[in-house]
Amino acid sequence: MGYYLVEGGKPIGGEFSVRGSKNAALPILAATLLAEDEVVLENCPLIRDFYLTLDILRTLGCKVELTGRTAVIDTRVIHDVEIREETVQKMRSSILFLGALLGREKRAILGHPGGCAIGKRPIDIHLSSFEKMGVEIQEEDGLFYCSAPHILGYHIYLNYPSVGATENILLLAAKAEGVTVIHNAAREPEIVALVRFLRACGAEIYGEGTPSIMIEGVKKLHGAYFSIPFDRIEAGTFLCASAMTGGELSLLGVEKNDIETTVGALEKTGCKFRFTSDCLWMKPPKELKSDFSLVTGPFPGFPTDMQPLVMSLLTLAKGTCMISETVFEARFRHAEELCRMGADIVVEDRIARIKGCAGLHGAEVFGHDLRGGAALLIAALAAEGKSVIYGSQYVERGYEKIEDAFSLLGGNVRLME
Ligand code: UD1
Repeated sequence: MGYYLVEGGKPIGGEFSVRGSKNAALPILAATLLAEDEVVLENCPLIRDFYLTLDILRTLGCKVELTGRTAVIDTRVIHDVEIREETVQKMRSSILFLGALLGREKRAILGHPGGCAIGKRPIDIHLSSFEKMGVEIQEEDGLFYCSAPHILGYHIYLNYPSVGATENILLLAAKAEGVTVIHNAAREPEIVALVRFLRACGAEIYGEGTPSIMIEGVKKLHGAYFSIPFDRIEAGTFLCASAMTGGELSLLGVEKNDIETTVGALEKTGCKFRFTSDCLWMKPPKELKSDFSLVTGPFPGFPTDMQPLVMSLLTLAKGTCMISETVFEARFRHAEELCRMGADIVVEDRIARIKGCAGLHGAEVFGHDLRGGAALLIAALAAEGKSVIYGSQYVERGYEKIEDAFSLLGGNVRLME
C-alpha cells in the first residue's frame, strides 16, 4: 500500500497553475464515442482515473494517443459494448459509457457498480431515465443488458439533480429521435463543459448551467478540438493547504464563477482574495476564524468534494463550525483520522461539529477515499512533526503528482510506493 511521508509546519505558498478538471474530463472521454471521428483534447489531467478511462476506450477498440497533456482519440471503429464489473467498481464514472454506448450502438452491457467508500451510490435515476427514453434493461448475473431499437426524446424530471444521471441522459439524448428536456438537471460547471464539448461536435443543446436542459437529437456528430477546463476541486485543495499553513498563494487558470462557494467559505475564515484576469490570489489571516455553518449541496451549493478539505482547514480555526453533508451519506471517514492528529471533531449522523484546536500534530493516518486522503495530506502539511498518510492510491486518482506540487510550493512531502 502506498503512503505519503510528510514533515509539516512549513507555509505552502507561491504560484500554482491549476490542471484540467477530472470530473469534466471523464464524461468528455465517454462522449468521444458519440463523435465516431477523431477528437483532440487539450489540458488533460495526468491522473489515474484519466488513464483508466483511456484504457476503457482502448478496450472498446478506439485508438488513443497521449502526448504531454494532449489526447488524440479516434473512435471511428469499436468492437465491444461491455463495461466490465471490475472496471465499474474500480471507477464509478465509467457508468457514463452506458449513455454513450447506447447513443452510438443502441446496446450496451454494464457490470454492477456496487457501493463505494463514500456511500451506497445507486444508479436508479440513470436507469429509470433511460427506460423512459425507450431503453430496455435486463439484469442478469449481476450485469445490466441494455438495448433500444429506437431512442426517443422525452421530458425527464429528476427527483434529485444527479451529476452523473444528467451527464448520462445528455449522452443518450444527443443522438436520440426528437427532443429531450431534463428538468431539475444538475448545474455543475462539469455539466456545462460536457455540453460545450458535445456542441463542438455538432450537438444541439440549450440551457446548460440552468435547471432545464433541452436537447434536440441530431443524426450524426463529428470530431472536435476541445480544451478541458480547470479543476475547481484541485484549486480549492491548494487554497485550503495555503490557508492552513499561513502561505500566500496565486492560482493561475481559474474561472471566478466556478470557485465562488469555496472562496466564500474561506473568506468567512478571514482569508483575503483578489481576482485578476485568470489569477486568484489569496492571503490567509494570522489566525483563522470559524463560528459559521456549511451545508453541502448540488451546485451552486457548497461542493461535497470540498467538504473534507474545508473540514481539515477548520480544525485550526478559532471557534466552532457545523458541517452538514447532504449529498453522500458516508462522507466523514476522514474526521476520525483528523482527530488522531489532534483535531476536535464530533460526528453525529450527517452533521460534523468542528471545534478549532491550537495545533495539529503528526500521526499515522488512513485515507479511505480521494478527497478524504487529500484532506489528511493538507492537515499533515500544517501539523507539527512527521505524518504517514496511507491510501495514496486514492489521492492519485484525482491529483497529479500532488507530492511534487506541494514540494514546489514549500512543503515537504514524499510518496513512498
Ligand atoms: C459526481 C462527481 C463527484 C461529486 C458528485 C456530487 C464525477 C466523476 N463525480 O458524482 O466527484 O462528489 O458528482 O457533486 O463527476 N444518486 C442516487 N441515484 C442515482 C444517482 C445518484 O440516489 O441514480 C445519489 C447518490 O448516491 C448521491 C447523490 O445522488 O447520494 C449525488 O450523486 P451524483 O450527483 O449522481 O454524483 P456522481 O455523479 O456519482
